[in-house]
This record gives sequence, structure tokens and C-alpha cells, in this order.
Amino acid sequence: MASPKILTAEYCLSAHRADQCPPAGLPEVAFLGRSNVGKSTLINTLLGRRKLVRTSSHPGCTRALNFFLINQRWYFVDLPGFGYAAVPKELKAGWGRLVLDYLSQRESLAAVVFLQDGRRQPADEELFLWEFLLEQGRRVIPVLTKADKLKQGERSRQLQRAAGALAPFGVTPSDFIWFSASTLEGKDRLWDRMLANLGEP
Ligand code: GTP
Ligand code: MG
Repeated sequence: MASPKILTAEYCLSAHRADQCPPAGLPEVAFLGRSNVGKSTLINTLLGRRKLVRTSSHPGCTRALNFFLINQRWYFVDLPGFGYAAVPKELKAGWGRLVLDYLSQRESLAAVVFLQDGRRQPADEELFLWEFLLEQGRRVIPVLTKADKLKQGERSRQLQRAAGALAPFGVTPSDFIWFSASTLEGKDRLWDRMLANLGEP
């Protein structure tokens, strides 16, 4: 299947507190991952919009929960990236609390796209978040980003290692989607997975 036609994609609001989120109603997908992993770039790529979501080579540029309304039908939520120095303990404090509250409480959250840089391995923060999401009964779609940066041999090695690290959470190698904003690899596959979770035929 191909990506759906994007008729409208608009920025709605930035929530700094849970009560600033739009009223729950439309199903939504949230994009989660370390700072600089490529969340905002991936959203722009999915929507075929170059600059809808602000991207940056400076990590931590997204600080709030940023809501975008797509085709008047779904919300996409660009979550703040967790940081370099952050450890799981710190994820639970400060603005990490905002993300965790959102992930556990948001009724209309249909799926979480969890991004991991294809060149890196899941670290403590990722493992903590995987456990947290599964405890909350969330559906999670694992994505390996910046696929264009890896050679074929490195890819299969990295995939095996990532799958090994996430095996305790029931993730298998075929669950991962390789994604590249430069080659558009993975775009259709990710859309398929998201639409299935959004209840689309
Ligand atoms: P925060 O908002 O800080 O959490 O970061 P983010 O996860 O939104 O990352 P962002 O989309 O801003 O991308 C970070 C950097 O990675 C930018 O310089 C992007 O151009 C680059 N990047 C993102 N996706 C890809 C990709 O698929 N391939 C390559 N080569 N670079 C990418
Ligand atoms: Mg961003």
C-alpha cells in the first residue's frame, strides 16, 4: 500500500502541560525518541511537507508536545526528545514527567512510533521507555532512522543487535522499519502500520 494523500496538515498547538492538549477525540500517533534521532524530519517526510515541523541539528529543539492536525482526521504529536545526559531517573522528573503523563494518560493515543538511530543501540533510556509503554498497554512501532547512513552489512548487524536488546519486550527483527528521510525508504511501510492502528480500512 502507498502513503495516503495528505490534503491538509496544520500545526495546532504546543502543550506544556497535559491540560493544554486538544480535547481527546480524533485518534493520534505520537513520535518518541532521543533528541536528534530525526522525529521532526520523519513527520515532515511522512506528510511530504518540507518545513511543517521545525527541525534542527541542535538537539533538544522540541520542548513541548506539538500537535498537528492531519486531513482533519488524525493528530500527529511531536514529543520532546530525551537528552544526552538524561538517565531514566531524570526522565521521570522535569519535562520528562510531561511526556510520561501524556504516554500513560492520553485516551486517544492509538500508537507510538518509537525512533532509534539505526547506528546506535537502545540505551537505558530507551529500555526504560519500552518497558513503560508496554506496562501502559501501548502499541509501539519501532523505527530505525537515518538508514541512508548505513551500509548493508552494518544494517543487518545493527538490526540483530537492536532486536536482541528489545527481545524482552516481544520485539522481533521483522517488527522494525528502516527509515530514511533522504531516500524515503520505509515511508509506505510506516504509513501502513500507522493507518492500521488508527483504525483505517
Ligand atoms: P529534537 O527535536 O531535538 O528532539 O530532534 P529530532 O528528533 O526532531 O531530530 P530532527 O528531525 O530535528 O533531525 C536531527 C538531525 O538529523 C537533522 O540535522 C536532520 O537533517 C538529520 N536527519 C533526520 N533524519 C535523517 C535521515 O533520514 N537521514 C539523514 N542522513 N539525516 C537525517
Ligand atoms: Mg524535533
